Amino acid sequence: MSNLMEERVLNVRHWTDRLFSFTTSRDAGFRFRNGEFTMIGIKVEGRPLMRAYSVVSPNYEETLEFYSIKVPDGPLTSRLQHLKAGDPIIIGRKATGTLVIDNLNPGANLYLLGTGTGLAPFLSIIRDPQTYDRFEKIVLIHGCRQVSELAYGEEMVAALQAHEFLGEEAKVKLVYYPTVTREPFRNQGRITTLMESGKLFADIGLPPLDKARDRVMLCGSPQMMVDLKNRLTALDFVEGNHGEAGDFVLEKAFAER
Ligand code: A2P
Repeated sequence: MSNLMEERVLNVRHWTDRLFSFTTSRDAGFRFRNGEFTMIGIKVEGRPLMRAYSVVSPNYEETLEFYSIKVPDGPLTSRLQHLKAGDPIIIGRKATGTLVIDNLNPGANLYLLGTGTGLAPFLSIIRDPQTYDRFEKIVLIHGCRQVSELAYGEEMVAALQAHEFLGEEAKVKLVYYPTVTREPFRNQGRITTLMESGKLFADIGLPPLDKARDRVMLCGSPQMMVDLKNRLTALDFVEGNHGEAGDFVLEKAFAER
C-alpha cells in the first residue's frame, strides 16, 4: 500500500491575500489524533511536492481541512493557492506530531498559544470532546499582525459555540482570546508581552501560569516558541513528548517561507 493517498479538493476559502483554507475528501482508513500533522501536496512534473500541514478538522469528521499561508515564490503554496474544487491533492497516510493531549500531564486549565497559521492544530483540539473531559478550561490565544488574519479562528469558534453537541460545553469551558500586534483591536500586543504584564490573565479572569494547575501547547513562529519555552521552563514547566507526558508541548507552525 502506498504511503500517499490521492484525494480531491472539496471547497476552498480565501481569508486574506495571504491566507486560505480548504477541505478535501478523506480515505476511510486514514487515522490521526487531534492536533497531529501530515504531509500534503500536489504532483509537479509527475513528482509529489509535499509539505507538513496540521489537520484542522477533528478526527471524527468525514472530510479533512487544512489552513495555509500563500507565499508568492513558495514552491508548494504558490501553486496550492490556486486549488479549486475537484482538483486532486496528495495526502500522506501517516499522521504524527507532539501537540496531542495524551502528551500532557493531567491539569485544570489547557492553554493553546498560537501565532499565525499556528492556530491550525488547535482548531482540531478544541473540537475534540476528550479535551473537555480532561480540562476545566481551555484557553485559546491567537496572535496575529492584522485583524483580518483572525477571521478563520473567529468563525470556527463561533461555529463551535453553536454546535449541536459540543456547543454547550464549549460556551462554558472555552475561552477565546485573539490579539493583534500591528493594528488597533480590543486585545493588542504579543502573547509574550500580555503574559509578562499580567494583562492577559486579568482580561480572561484566570490566575497567572502555574505548573500545579496549567498545561500549555505552543505552535507558531520559531522566535515565539523560543521565548515562550524559556518562560515556561523558568516556571519549572517540563516539556513533554511521545512516551513521556509533560506540562507543555510545542511544534513550530509549518509555514513555507
Ligand atoms: P509582531 O507583529 O510584533 O511581530 P508572523 O506573521 O511574523 O508569523 O507573526 C504572527 C504574530 O506573532 C504577530 O502578531 C507577531 O507579532 C507575533 N510574534 C512574532 N514573534 C513573536 C515572539 N517572539 N513572541 C510572541 N509573539 C510573536
